[in-house]
Amino acid sequence: MSPKLNWGILATGGIARKFAAALPESRTGRLVAVGSRTRAAAEKFAADFGGLRAHGSYEALLADPEVTAVYIATPHPSHLEWTRRAAAAGKHILCEKPLALNRAGAQQMVDAARAHQVFLMEAFMYRCHPQTAKLAELVRDGAIGELRAIHANFTVPFKFDPAHRIFNKALGGGAILDLGCYPVSFSRRMAGAAAGRAFAEPLSFHGSGRLNTVTGADEFAAATVAYPGGITAQLSCSSCTPLEIRTRLLGSAGWIDVPSPFHPGEPNKPAVITLHRPGGAAPEKMEFANAQPLYALEADTVGDAIARGELESPAMSHADTLGNMAVLDAWRAAVGMRYDGEG
Ligand SMILES: NC(=O)c1ccc[n+]([C@@H]2O[C@H](COP(=O)([O-])OP(=O)(O)OC[C@H]3O[C@@H](n4cnc5c(N)ncnc54)[C@H](OP(=O)(O)O)[C@@H]3O)[C@@H](O)[C@H]2O)c1
Repeated sequence: MSPKLNWGILATGGIARKFAAALPESRTGRLVAVGSRTRAAAEKFAADFGGLRAHGSYEALLADPEVTAVYIATPHPSHLEWTRRAAAAGKHILCEKPLALNRAGAQQMVDAARAHQVFLMEAFMYRCHPQTAKLAELVRDGAIGELRAIHANFTVPFKFDPAHRIFNKALGGGAILDLGCYPVSFSRRMAGAAAGRAFAEPLSFHGSGRLNTVTGADEFAAATVAYPGGITAQLSCSSCTPLEIRTRLLGSAGWIDVPSPFHPGEPNKPAVITLHRPGGAAPEKMEFANAQPLYALEADTVGDAIARGELESPAMSHADTLGNMAVLDAWRAAVGMRYDGEG
């Protein structure tokens, strides 16, 4: 058995805490260190999770020789810089979604990881959950006939605060990058499954949306995407309307409801999908028990790939991330949303 992967967490915010809380249930990894822009935050985090080395800078975390993999959990605009620096330091990398602000940035990150021969994956944890694999299998095997349409939305209402990273463009604000990346990646995965592939690229894309009148960050967006095989996806995301997260896969001979597509099994209850077939058959519920927390499954997806000597994972390959980022670029262009420095 390979030795455990020694994780260092870069940043101490909300998702960093979730990942740290799940790591004790990872088969393949253990948390050894944390780095923060401030020593006080690193020490508080280390005390909360026990037995970690606390570093008062991200540079110091990357210089820690015991750390073999880093989990980058900063706001999106700094994913590029810290991925490049982590790769140069020879650390394997799990970086939060979206991998970058745009496809060009993501390409630089992939190039850096390849140049330094380190693992890199965008942290789409739902891609590591058995529910996602089962959905892809059902679609591929024709459980609902031919896949015709995908409905996917991700709406999380945030109280308006112009400084919050969801509204503040300097922190990568915008619903498309923060939330829309999930329905896009989900539709790509399922449209790909219909053709027996890991993902599909759109044939056409039409989007629209609204920008926040104070900060200019997109806060509601919808899109219609055409995929090969006559598959149409209707996607939406929002940070300014009431909570709604669900997806439905519609086929020529039935449909599948997926009430928890993006955080299956969280918080701590089994994920359930329902397969409907017309003609009087009772809907079939499929339940996925929580063997591990979602973020531990993600850590093990990374740990297993690294143990096999791989530099990317089929759960979210480099090509898949780059294609996903290109769709997000198109969606932002459709709503007139640009970040400073973008051409
Ligand atoms: N996969 C998921 O389920 C999931 C869920 C939520 C968020 N995310 C992603 O994770 C990333 C972080 O999100 P979050 O919700 O954890 O954000 P957050 O709570 O605001 O925390 C971000 C952390 O990044 C560090 N940071 C570095 N530069 C910063 C800056 N200029 N302003 C503020 N913080 C800065 C800070 O840590 P230090 O002060 O310690 O340096 C801060 O605590 C985003 O890219 C987001 O899309 C993923």
